[in-house]
Amino acid sequence: MNSIIPTALLTLLALVNFGQACIDKSIYYEIDNEIEKIASSINAEEQLVHFYGGIVRLAAHDFMDYDQNSDTSFGSDGCIDWNHEVNKGLETIWCTSCPLTKLYRKKYSFISKADFWIASANAVIRQLSKNQSFDLANTFLWGRKDATTCKGSGNRIPLATGTCQDVEDTMLDAMGLEWRDAVALLGAHTIGKGHEAVRSPFERHDGYWMPTVADSLRFDKQYYEELILRTWRARNSGTDLEDFTASTEETHEHPQIMLKSDVCLLYNSDSNYPCCSKTHRFRNGRNQCDVEQVLSKKKCRRYSNRDTRMQAVNAVLEYLGGSSPNDNQGPFYRAFNTAWYKATTNGHDNLKPLRRMC
Ligand code: HEM
Ligand SMILES: *[C@@H]1O[C@H](CO)[C@@H](O)[C@H](O)[C@H]1NC(C)=O
Repeated sequence: MNSIIPTALLTLLALVNFGQACIDKSIYYEIDNEIEKIASSINAEEQLVHFYGGIVRLAAHDFMDYDQNSDTSFGSDGCIDWNHEVNKGLETIWCTSCPLTKLYRKKYSFISKADFWIASANAVIRQLSKNQSFDLANTFLWGRKDATTCKGSGNRIPLATGTCQDVEDTMLDAMGLEWRDAVALLGAHTIGKGHEAVRSPFERHDGYWMPTVADSLRFDKQYYEELILRTWRARNSGTDLEDFTASTEETHEHPQIMLKSDVCLLYNSDSNYPCCSKTHRFRNGRNQCDVEQVLSKKKCRRYSNRDTRMQAVNAVLEYLGGSSPNDNQGPFYRAFNTAWYKATTNGHDNLKPLRRMC
């Protein structure tokens, strides 16, 4: 019966009944459906990667500005600091002519942008997950209110060259998460990509976290596999674009990257950047730390057993799901669900769960 009654009428009924807009399962899955429709209209795979990745990043940047120790706590409130450099790249996801924005204006402006961005990110994650089965609906809550301004919120989000100290400041101290949550959330870098370089490959953090475009369209535990498997060598060292790359001319479609805030979840790379994660690997007689731009053959340090960041290392190992190769997404998905729930509800009380019908 749900499908016969037009959404507009349902919305009107919901408004009449409760005096406020409500999100039920049919609206939630309809948003999922609409996102899928937009995605299927995008032909260029690179663009599709950015469309999907950008939506998840948008929701994350909305919640990553939460600070439990501040009077202006921000968090998921439909507001990000558009002028701040950390949000560059999102202007092609949320803008007047952007498909996602148009969808919101046309059909869903009765709910908050904050709720809409999270529902949209959940849709992306489900669609790109194994068997399309990773459904965050069970922990989805709605009823967030949008803020019209959130000046200064961009300062709370780690820069692209940020370290594990920045992850700790933002995700542990300000957002109140644990290392295992931070590590799970950063696993979202398994989808999406860095900005396309406009002039030179070093202009921005150019590249994909995954070795192929197809891999960047799967929301799975591959981020952790790449982290542990590859030879990550420092790139752009000494510039304001410091990061890591694993690219070799022969095997990669695009540059493959990890940020300093990714590599430091497994190695104590904050303490001796620039470094390389595996210094004894050779290919065609050449050290893998020493291809293309040679930056460092210095080995990235390990954390000592007493270091609290061993919690991050242990989380990486846990999310690998056992000895590889294996297809056990469970540990990553469960941890991501927990972390995503905490991050998206931070600072809110009175949020409501999805019901079958409003
Ligand atoms: C330490 C925290 C983080 C840092 C430093 C960081 C940094 C970055 C950077 C530099 C990019 C490339 C942006 C561009 O050039 O267009 C990016 C992309 C992305 N980030 Fe993060 N990020 C962080 C946390 C997160 C979290 C918590 C999530 C989600 C749970 C996330 C999801 C994504 C996604 C999906 C993309 C791809 C965007 C696209 O394809 O357009 N990031 N991130
Ligand atoms: C996906 O489906 C296969 C085959 O039915 C199953 O073995 C596997 O556990 C599923 N994976 C997830 C993460 O749902």
